[in-house]
Amino acid sequence: MIDLRSDTVTKPSPEMREAMANAEVGDDVWGDDPTVNLLQDKCKELTGKPAALFVTSGCMGNQLAIKSHTNPAEEVIAEWDSHIVKYEIAGPSFISGVQVMPLKGTHGVMDAGEIEAHIRPDWYHYPKTSLVCIENTHNRAGGTVYPLNEIKSVSKVCRNNNLKLHLDGARIFNASVESGVSVKEYASQVDSITFCFSKGLGAPIGSILCGDEEFITRAHKYRKILGGGMRQAGIIAAGALYAVENNVTRLMEDHKNAKHFAEEISKLPYVVIDMESVQTNIVIFNTTKDANRIREVLEGKGVVVTNDGKDKMRVVFHMDVSAEQTDQAIEIFKTLKA
Ligand SMILES: Cc1ncc(COP(=O)(O)O)c(C=O)c1O
Repeated sequence: MIDLRSDTVTKPSPEMREAMANAEVGDDVWGDDPTVNLLQDKCKELTGKPAALFVTSGCMGNQLAIKSHTNPAEEVIAEWDSHIVKYEIAGPSFISGVQVMPLKGTHGVMDAGEIEAHIRPDWYHYPKTSLVCIENTHNRAGGTVYPLNEIKSVSKVCRNNNLKLHLDGARIFNASVESGVSVKEYASQVDSITFCFSKGLGAPIGSILCGDEEFITRAHKYRKILGGGMRQAGIIAAGALYAVENNVTRLMEDHKNAKHFAEEISKLPYVVIDMESVQTNIVIFNTTKDANRIREVLEGKGVVVTNDGKDKMRVVFHMDVSAEQTDQAIEIFKTLKA
């Protein structure tokens, strides 16, 4: 089975499992877990932020960030197709009592001028705009990289207007290895950043939220309220630590496989693909055939993918898919007759 549904389907390698089995642990709710503390220190170093908090998931990282940056009845600007808007179940309204103003981006990138134009004037009819959220890489745009100069423009708008800026960097290492921009440099432009260990980096569980001390102190309390305090969490933190120490540079292999796959399937008559969107490990394309049917037929032939409606498909490359398996998947796609 070649599983191309998501980069979240990876299983921990024997070496990662060994690191997890041997992890020193303590009670992290007491702040006593040495491996969690090591991981948080490592993430402070990677992002250049003064504080870091280990959290269960990317969703939890994003929602804690929104809660810690805002007050109820305020407004958050985010890209309309971002994870926060599409897949976090109205979390900003449920958890933080805020409303999201979704703006449409190009390849997931919002125009800084448009963000500025949507900041609410101070008037009693309006909510106060207090936060902007960006996503790098942008999942639903096809794993696209948010260019550093665009982030700098958004950051400037936020600073000039007293807004906080949060970066959903679930796949920030994919952006970093592809662009050559360090995670620290991306993080320097934002007030907070979250990233995931359990996507391309191959760990089974966990994400991190980084920011300044005051922000993380607030987020720590909210993590507790949401039931996110974990006890001997060093076992999973060890997998995360192994992932950031060993699995970053190899992400380029996933990008290479994704681009090769996209180039090959773009030659098929029923595939319509925007090659500009294929920048990292995700390939999203349209098809003139029924996408549900394609998914079912591929599954029968040992290739698992996802579709979004009748004409859109998503294929994701990760550490458990080799170059040989990529070629096999391409050959199987080619057997689907036009
Ligand atoms: C861009 C982005 N942000 C956040 C998340 C949420 O991560 P998790 O599934 O760990 O909650 C995802 C998950 O796919 C994602 O793609």
